[in-house]
Amino acid sequence: MIKDKFKKGIISARDFSREDIEYFLEKGHEMISIESSDLLKDKILATLFFEPSTRTRLSFESAMHRLGGKVIGFQTEKVSSIKKGESLADTIRTVENYSDCIVLRHSMEGAAKLASRFAKIPIINAGSGSKEHPTQALLDLLTIKEEVGLFDGLNMGIMGDLKYGRTVHSLAMLLSNFNINIYFISPEELKMRSRYKDYLFRQREVKFKEITNYRKILNILDVLYMTRIQKERFVDMEEYERVKNFYVFSEKDLENTKDNFRLLHPLPRINEIPPEIDKSEKAIYFKQTRYGLHMRKAILAELLSE
Ligand code: CP
Repeated sequence: MIKDKFKKGIISARDFSREDIEYFLEKGHEMISIESSDLLKDKILATLFFEPSTRTRLSFESAMHRLGGKVIGFQTEKVSSIKKGESLADTIRTVENYSDCIVLRHSMEGAAKLASRFAKIPIINAGSGSKEHPTQALLDLLTIKEEVGLFDGLNMGIMGDLKYGRTVHSLAMLLSNFNINIYFISPEELKMRSRYKDYLFRQREVKFKEITNYRKILNILDVLYMTRIQKERFVDMEEYERVKNFYVFSEKDLENTKDNFRLLHPLPRINEIPPEIDKSEKAIYFKQTRYGLHMRKAILAELLSE
């Protein structure tokens, strides 16, 4: 049973089988037509965000409200007792007395996993350092399924900060359940780390190629998933300066794509997709944010409904 499998929450994309993913995609699809309901009317969600967020926090909170539930939480550790030196474990053991589920974003890799060891209620990983962001990956797949189709042989480019990008780590792990061709596109300094590539190649036998110049393959791609070069993750600012403008998608690039090509981005963006691209029907990153709401309704319904 999916409910039993995820009773500790959603921690890593590695925990998902293809069957699990398809189940959540189906539930996400159903949620598209459910604007509001009282399914979670006696439930309380706690959103604990130790790092900034617009989409993840607000879509979870909106999803909870739309399903009739209530939300408590904080958006910065500055207003919690973490500021006074309280540990994450003690914070979780306290907040679980006030809520039925905790959505946690933290700068520390493994924060959600650690939290789940202490919690008696489900923990949802809303981003743990540069490691993982599994619910983003689920909403990314819902977007692809609804807008393009998750078909065998799909050509997908994943481009930008593959080293520190938690969204791409989780996405690659979910995609490893499907028979698609993945192109990892990045500057040398920001290549996908070996631990993820080893997992994909050795354990999952995923077909992937690593390239730097996306223009060489743009005309065969069905989906390009762009990401921001994340200044906040760099230790060496000179390295950041060298790569920050490495990829800027242009209108000319759009002309070289297939008719059914779609451009995704988890957002926020900086300058890697200029605003003039937004008007193209191929640019679906704002639709993607809407699918985020539906997927998070599906996740909360699954974890919290009786
Ligand atoms: N995609 C994403 O995680 O966005 P936020 O940082 O705004 O939550």
